[in-house]
Amino acid sequence: MRILVVADIHANRAALDAISEPHDVCLCLGDTVEYGPNPAACVDWVQQHADHSVRGNHDHGVVQNVDLFGVGGFRYLTMVTRPPTLAALTPSHRRYLASRPTTQMLTLGGKRFLLVHATPRDPLDEYTPSDRKAWEPRLVGVKADFVLVGHTHQQFTFEIGTTTLLNPGSVGLPRDGDPRARYAIIEDGVVQLKQVEYAIPETTAGVEAMEIDPRAKAMLADVYRHGKYMNGNGNGNGQYGPEPS
Ligand SMILES: [Fe+2]
Repeated sequence: MRILVVADIHANRAALDAISEPHDVCLCLGDTVEYGPNPAACVDWVQQHADHSVRGNHDHGVVQNVDLFGVGGFRYLTMVTRPPTLAALTPSHRRYLASRPTTQMLTLGGKRFLLVHATPRDPLDEYTPSDRKAWEPRLVGVKADFVLVGHTHQQFTFEIGTTTLLNPGSVGLPRDGDPRARYAIIEDGVVQLKQVEYAIPETTAGVEAMEIDPRAKAMLADVYRHGKYMNGNGNGNGQYGPEPS
């Protein structure tokens, strides 16, 4: 069995379109919308292609219209891109996002999978570093062969006990210094971390056409081109501390 795992698409259809992998099952770990120019097309894709999907904090924020306050960094970009995201989504899109569970357990090929956007104890928001020490306490009591997470936009995999933890990275808004779209394949229980180049100018042109603050357009283009935020109030490595992604 060959499983395609995607997360944090963030309304970037060009990045999504670059993924061309034969697979038997597609799993999506949330944050399909916000930041990027193609929220409707990306929700359509997930609805049509993902066999199972869970809700991300951005999906939740959009469908619940959660209040946002942000003066800089990715919080600011979330606040700025929410109105065009809401305008682009139909009631059907919003119903689909609202119907996503926050966690999902399933069995594939005899293996138990737990799907969650952030962490099992805080499915939407908890930001956890990509290291074993941070994750060990968060998997206590979790009975699964694979725990699949997103949220941090950091691609990694390692084992804790008999559980394989996997974050496929972000399809549409990588933030670790490599602008390529990220995803993962699990084939017969073996994880492959994947990267693929995509038509970044297509995405930046889409952002340019959005009715948002020019400052936000420049920030987003920066992140798309470099895989991190290079200028402004960041520290140059694309990190803003324990900020939801
Ligand atoms: Fe995200």
